[in-house]
Amino acid sequence: EKIKGFQKALLNWYDQNKRDLPWRVDHDPYHVWISEIMLQQTQVQTVIPYYQRFMKLFPTVGQLAKADESVLLKAWEGLGYYSRARHLQTAARQIVTDYGGQWPQTIDGLKSLSGVGPYTAGAIASIAFNQPVPAVDGNAFRVFSRLFKIDADIAKPQTRHLFEKVIQNVISRDRPGDFNQAIMDLGASYMSAKNPDTVHSPVKQFDQAYLDGEEDKYPVKSKK
Ligand code: ADE
Repeated sequence: EKIKGFQKALLNWYDQNKRDLPWRVDHDPYHVWISEIMLQQTQVQTVIPYYQRFMKLFPTVGQLAKADESVLLKAWEGLGYYSRARHLQTAARQIVTDYGGQWPQTIDGLKSLSGVGPYTAGAIASIAFNQPVPAVDGNAFRVFSRLFKIDADIAKPQTRHLFEKVIQNVISRDRPGDFNQAIMDLGASYMSAKNPDTVHSPVKQFDQAYLDGEEDKYPVKSKK
């Protein structure tokens, strides 16, 4: 039916057009986690060389846990928001000491890690552990608000739950990590905020806002 058709169109497009990114080479939770934290306030093209240097310096969670703080902060220089780097080391130590070096795999377990919120927990659980859970960032708000003409205000904290429910109904059970990353790629290209190109979108026939000529109404976001 319609959901299956949407998943198929999205994943076929992703298979042929996904961005070739260094953290997509495997599904190691450490790689997913570091990349997602770096990508939170920094653009993809800027993150790539930082990610590569970081993995040379700290190839495993154990090495990050015992890293010299000055070396860590030096590696972060230029990315900004240094609290992210401090949270990374705190979380690495939690994994080593509280979890015996084994990654927690549930959303609640992941959220117990320092600096890991609902978005990052969803990204790790879906990409690294193949769990059908949403990862709601700005891309997901934009893409799903347009597909389903959701007019809830994305500036309100409780709106996240509404989107999580919607995504739970449409996420691929077979390939949840690829599904979430396909939404990110779609949100960075055909369904971008600044210059969307929906006429060429691989899922335009599922995009209700586009079909009704109302793309520019979504997402709804109040000024605070
Ligand atoms: N932005 C946030 N997470 C991302 C990912 N895994 N791939 C590409 N862009 C992203």
